[in-house]
Amino acid sequence: MHPKPAKEATSVKVILEWAKEKLLGVQIESPILDARLLLGFALGTPQERFYGSEDKILTKSQTDNYAKLIERRCKREPVSRIIGTRGFWNLTLRINSSSLDPRPDSEILMEAILRSLPDKAVNLKFIDFGTGTGCLLLSALNEFPNSSGVGVDISRECIKLAKENAELNGLSRRARFIESDWGREVTDKFDIIIANPPYIQSDTISTLDPEVKNFDPHIALDGGQDGLSCYRKLAPQFVGILKKGGLVFLEIGYNQSESVSDIMEHSGLKCVHINQDLGHRDRCLVLAHRHQY
Ligand SMILES: C[S@@+](CC[C@H](N)C(=O)[O-])C[C@H]1O[C@@H](n2cnc3c(N)ncnc32)[C@H](O)[C@@H]1O
Repeated sequence: MHPKPAKEATSVKVILEWAKEKLLGVQIESPILDARLLLGFALGTPQERFYGSEDKILTKSQTDNYAKLIERRCKREPVSRIIGTRGFWNLTLRINSSSLDPRPDSEILMEAILRSLPDKAVNLKFIDFGTGTGCLLLSALNEFPNSSGVGVDISRECIKLAKENAELNGLSRRARFIESDWGREVTDKFDIIIANPPYIQSDTISTLDPEVKNFDPHIALDGGQDGLSCYRKLAPQFVGILKKGGLVFLEIGYNQSESVSDIMEHSGLKCVHINQDLGHRDRCLVLAHRHQY
């Protein structure tokens, strides 16, 4: 049986132990870290560490509040969604039920951009298709202080959220967000295209972890029957709006590098580099106009 938090006079140490056991009981992979992060959130302290204050006594309302957060995590709601924020690259972003919870794997796109563009002083125009929280566009603009960009999403709620995140991170002067079905409302040309479209096969979504299938919006995951439908729509649009000499940084599923490269090459782009994620799986294609090579 799990220990219960005492009704009164519960210490940090006791309640963390209680939370860890509860989380372990539902096979949460990182019970200690999650227990600490959520306690930090419940107590309004930014740090997740409580070394040196294990004997601190919590009030009844702090204990009750924390127990509710742990219940949510036990139902497999991700910590980031409970807290409402996620660290991505070097920004802190708000997330909500309309947006994908940005993944560390997507930071590979940022690494690829920085590797291809060593001069951060350049003045470039970025566009980010399927911007969600705005994580990729805003991280890029934060790295390139003389550049500006547009984030596109079909979800009005995501556009609202991305604007808030731009404001929060002091980037709203250089970031514009538009509600659009991919490039339908886009008229300009761009130096850099970023995109992390939905790429999960429709019928595998139900097999994903509860954190994903029950909490990420399916419109952010669903790539159609074979997972490639968004790439097919985007490929000709990329060609139309990519400036001469420009580059596309495109996230792909771990087993999609050949099929997505074929789709892109069929439309007139060429894959000039493939970047792998921390698990050594192909994760980001770098593409350019084929006639440049
Ligand atoms: C995989 S999520 C990526 C979100 C964010 N860029 C990130 O990396 O965390 C894909 C995004 O594409 C958006 N999306 C799906 N279909 C779209 C469409 N037809 N036009 C524009 N955006 C779309 C979803 O709303 C979602 O925000």
